[in-house]
Order: sequence, then C-alpha cells, then structure tokens
Amino acid sequence: MFIIFEGIDGSGLTTQSKILKDYLEEKGNKVFLTKEPTNSHIGRLIRKTLRGLYKTDQEALALLFAVDRSMHMDIIKKELKDSLVICDRYYFSNFAYQMLSVDLDHLIRINSRFLKPDLTIFLDVPAEVCKKRIDENREHIEIFENQETLERIRKNYIKIIKLFKKKGYDIVEIDGNRSIEETHAAVAACVEKFLE
Ligand code: ADP
Ligand code: TYD
Repeated sequence: MFIIFEGIDGSGLTTQSKILKDYLEEKGNKVFLTKEPTNSHIGRLIRKTLRGLYKTDQEALALLFAVDRSMHMDIIKKELKDSLVICDRYYFSNFAYQMLSVDLDHLIRINSRFLKPDLTIFLDVPAEVCKKRIDENREHIEIFENQETLERIRKNYIKIIKLFKKKGYDIVEIDGNRSIEETHAAVAACVEKFLE
C-alpha cells in the first residue's frame, strides 16, 4: 500500500505523516516513511536551489524533481514488498508547484512512468494559515513560501485533484485547518477505511 500526503507548505504534511506512521505501527503494520525531495545528491541540490543558493530555470527544476523521484522509485518499490509506504509529497507536488511556470502536460509526461499511488491525502489548509505556521516555525524561507504563491499552488492542487480523480485515482481531501489531533483523527479514519 502506497500512501501519499500532499498539500502546500505548512499544511502539516511532515507532522501528519509521522503521526500516521506511529499510529499504523502501533496497529502492527510495518511502515516505511519517506519524503520528496529525498536526501539523494539530487535532493540536496534541489534544497539548495529552493533556498536561492543556485539559480536554475523552472523547467530544469521540474526535471530535477523528476530525476530525484526516479531514483526514489527503486527504494519505494523495494519497501513495498513487505511494508506500507507513506510518502511526504510525490508527483502531485511536481504538478501543483511547477505548473506555476511549466506546462502541465509536460509535467504529467515526465512523471508518467512512476508508480501510481494507492491513496493520496490532500491536507487542505488556507495559504494565510500556512504562512503564519511557516513564519512561526521556520529558520529559512524557501522560494514558494509567500502567501500569494501558496494560494495559487493550493488552487493548482484543487484543479489537479479533480483531473486525477477522473482518471481513477483515489484522492481524499482532508481539512487540515484544525488541531494536529483532530486532523490526525480524520486521516486515520480515512486510511482505516481504505485498508479494510
Ligand atoms: P509541511 O511539512 O506541510 O510543510 P509541517 O508538518 O512541517 O508542514 O508543519 C509546519 C509547522 O506547522 C510546524 O511547526 C508544525 O508543528 C505546525 N503545524 C502542523 N500542523 C499544525 C496544526 N494542525 N495546527 C497548528 N500548527 C501545526
Ligand atoms: P519541503 O517538503 O518543505 O521539504 P523540507 O522540509 O525538506 O524543506 O520542501 C520541498 C519544497 O519543494 C516544497 O515547497 C514543495 C516543493 N516541491 C516541488 O516544487 N516539486 C516537487 O516535485 C516536490 C516533490 C516538491
């Protein structure tokens, strides 16, 4: 079972994916938690680019994310043989973020060979709330982390979710604009239902 968390920066992806891992492990499941961008050399290059240390045009950046994902694929496939895999961001991030400046069809093409997730959870939180969370907690601000851009990315997610639901993907939107515990309860209920 391959579960993805998606949402804009500050929506609680890292928080919720960790809590879900603990919850599923307590229930006796073997769980592998991973994230994108990864810790590979490409992932590290991407992070430095996002912090403004390197200049890369947006089309090249989109490809870098896909290269990192391509390298991640082998690890995920191996883990899926005997574990539940939870991934904090996947190709829907590539679509929602990079479609700010790159053609969506091109983005879909460069991701077309990657594994289809079984369940994608979109944590929906208004950009204003995310920006406040980021400002309170982060030591550095990345290129996408301003309120106006985050709201555009949120709208992109909503468009993409509609499109991919039509293609038969299981995507669930969860209101993440509430406490960590309340959000987790909704996530856990959704995953339980799906695992049945
Ligand atoms: P993301 O991985 O989506 O960028 P994080 O899980 O890192 O988001 O959360 C960003 C910040 O917001 C963290 O400091 C986290 O503790 C806080 N946070 C996460 N979920 C909530 C919530 N439901 N309510 C308030 N703060 C939250
Ligand atoms: P984030 O998930 O916050 O990672 P970290 O906590 O390590 O900084 O940051 C990754 C950023 O990259 C986030 O703004 C989303 C963006 N992103 C893309 O633009 N495209 C992608 O394909 C992926 C996976 C992430």
